[in-house]
Order: sequence, then C-alpha cells, then structure tokens
Amino acid sequence: MLFPGTFDPFTRGHKDIARRASKLCDSLVIAVMENSAKTPLFTADERVELVSRSIADDGLDNVSVMKWGGLLVDLYSKLGCCASVRGIRSESDFRYEAELALANRLLLPGYDAILLPCRDDLSLISSSIVKEVGFYGGDISMMVPAEIINTVNDKFMKGRPQ
Ligand code: COA
Repeated sequence: MLFPGTFDPFTRGHKDIARRASKLCDSLVIAVMENSAKTPLFTADERVELVSRSIADDGLDNVSVMKWGGLLVDLYSKLGCCASVRGIRSESDFRYEAELALANRLLLPGYDAILLPCRDDLSLISSSIVKEVGFYGGDISMMVPAEIINTVNDKFMKGRPQ
C-alpha cells in the first residue's frame, strides 16, 4: 500500500495514519512527493529524512520511505500497489480526497484509495500550522513527532528574521 504526501513537514497526524495503515497491509511505502500547488519549505531529501527518523523507533518493520517526483499513478503502477491511503480530518478533506481519487482513477482505472479518518486530538494539525507556529517561535511539540522537533525548529531558526 502507498501513503503519498508532501509531508512538509511530517506531522503527528501523518504518523498516526502511517502506523494504522501499516496494520492493514503487508507493506506500506511512504512516498514523499510534490504537490504542484505547494512550495515546500523542506527539500525532498530533508522530508524523506524527517519521515524516516519519525518512524524509525516504532517497530514498523513493514514501512519504508522513498521520494518520487512524478505522477502518483506511475509510482502506484511501478510498485504494484493495491491502494493508496490518505488521512482525512474533515468534510473538506473528504471532498478533496474524493476528487483526487477520481482523477487518479481516470489516469489508471485500477487505482483505489483508502481514506482513514484521523484521530480527534490530531484533527487540527496541519503542516501549514506547524510552519506558521514554528516560524514565530511557538511550541510545535504537540504537532510533530518528538524525533524531529529539533531539526524542524532549526529550519525555522535559520529562516527567521534576527
Ligand atoms: N493525514 C494526512 N494529512 C493530514 C492529516 C492526516 N491525519 N492531518 C492533517 N493533514 C494535513 C497535512 O498536514 C497537510 O497540510 P497542509 O495542506 O497544511 O500542507 C494536508 O493535510 C495534506 O497534505 P499532505 O498529506 O502532505 O499531502 P498533499 O495533499 O500535499 O499531497 C499529493 C498530495 C502529493 C499526494 C498529490 O499532490 C500528488 O499525488 N502529487 C503528485 C502528482 C500527481 O499525481 N497529482 C495528481 C494528479 S490527479
């Protein structure tokens, strides 16, 4: 199964989805991708590193991480996936994901998506909120996995005006 996303940066919400999805399949590939509507703060290699470190100590033996710069359906075909998994926090996420799944199915008729509702306590977290809070020096510890807090904060320190 594939878990695609921009992950700029990976959040505790993403980690929860990865953990739960890993129990639903033999193998889960977290694919760090590009969304043409977003200009990421972290490079693709940095995002791969952040995801890898976030999950390293969780005993998720069937989860791997990679980067992919092309179409989602091309990776899906290449890996012979049975489905993509995406987390949904709200009705608007559901609409967006339904449209994304439909578009992907037009490109690849066998494409399928599994939408996992996110945990209540993580439903207000987004990568954008992490960046907004972090930029102004706020506490992001409730939003990103403990393993990457310092690295994410370092990035904000470098970008913050002195
Ligand atoms: N699970 C997932 N996302 C969650 C979440 C949760 N439990 N809780 C919150 N979120 C947030 C994320 O933090 C993120 O917030 P942001 O919008 O502030 O950045 C947002 O929901 C989802 O972002 P992310 O999971 O990083 O993925 P994305 O929506 O940016 O990824 C791609 C979209 C990469 C899968 C899609 O653009 C893609 O497939 N790109 C490749 C090109 C392609 O094939 N396009 C489709 C053609 S039809």
